[in-house]
Amino acid sequence: MSNRLNSKIAVITGGAKGLGRSIAEKFYEEGCKIIICDVLSSEAQKVAKNLKGKSFELDVSDSKQVLEIFNYINNLYNKIDILVNNAGINGFENRPDIIEERNRINKAQIREYSENKTIDTHFDVTVNMSDFDWFKMINTHLSGTFFCTREALKIMNKSNSGSIINMGSVLGTTGGPSSPHYSAAKGGILAYTRALARELASRNIRVNAIAPGYIDTDMTNSLGYVKDIVKSQTPMKKFGVVEDIAWAAVYLASDEAKFMTGQTISPNGGFVMSQ
Ligand SMILES: NC(=O)c1ccc[n+]([C@@H]2O[C@H](COP(=O)([O-])OP(=O)(O)OC[C@H]3O[C@@H](n4cnc5c(N)ncnc54)[C@H](O)[C@@H]3O)[C@@H](O)[C@H]2O)c1
Repeated sequence: MSNRLNSKIAVITGGAKGLGRSIAEKFYEEGCKIIICDVLSSEAQKVAKNLKGKSFELDVSDSKQVLEIFNYINNLYNKIDILVNNAGINGFENRPDIIEERNRINKAQIREYSENKTIDTHFDVTVNMSDFDWFKMINTHLSGTFFCTREALKIMNKSNSGSIINMGSVLGTTGGPSSPHYSAAKGGILAYTRALARELASRNIRVNAIAPGYIDTDMTNSLGYVKDIVKSQTPMKKFGVVEDIAWAAVYLASDEAKFMTGQTISPNGGFVMSQ
């Protein structure tokens, strides 16, 4: 324990596993009080218990639920120092069929291009996307980030201080051929981060984003064949581990980052240089 976040109160969405869980663990080691909000109630409870914190079952895309939970947090603690908007999905949850199909298209396209053939294989994700899938992605990431930020600010504004960290992705900058809705949501989060940083500078509330490259978590475990392509295109030839992102979050949350606002930090093994 080194107390870089001593006595701070942090709300971490999507903290039941993956990057959010690692951020919660590192924050705890730095002396922070942890509040985890996640749709996975019992997993969130377990993590919070280990970290002597609290957990709430919350779907960040539901503004009524977000209002209720943040009111509850306000009544319990009367302050929030750090908000990490991390909850997210990749749209392939429980859909191995889609992943298999995307992998097939990827392989076939690479073959057609490399053999100088006519390109007959296309992703066609956009023409086939349902309203449901589009809005689920946008609402989980972008609306969820907005809803939680709005409610957290009602609490943070009272002390005119705080740090907000939004989870973007390299795909919010580079785009991805098979996830236009994910890229749109993450690109929106990066733009929202910059606007919010300008709006909140006068309140001494800093707002930054982390845009991870590919990190080993449940979200990327399902990628199959694409994992090898990504590794081969990454200068460091590997995926990151959750701590690579958690340390960036510790820095942005701490007073060591007191001159940082409106920025995007991107631990990505060189996959994208210069965000
Ligand atoms: N793993 C990567 O390579 C990677 C790369 C770039 C960005 N990201 C982003 O980092 C964040 C965390 O990803 P991860 O890899 O840890 O994924 P993960 O699937 O391991 O964890 C995501 C967490 O978010 C929770 N969640 C999902 N929808 C929710 C909702 N509506 N309300 C509340 N909680 C919800 C899940 O229950 C889970 O606990 C996501 O925003 C993701 O898009 C991940």
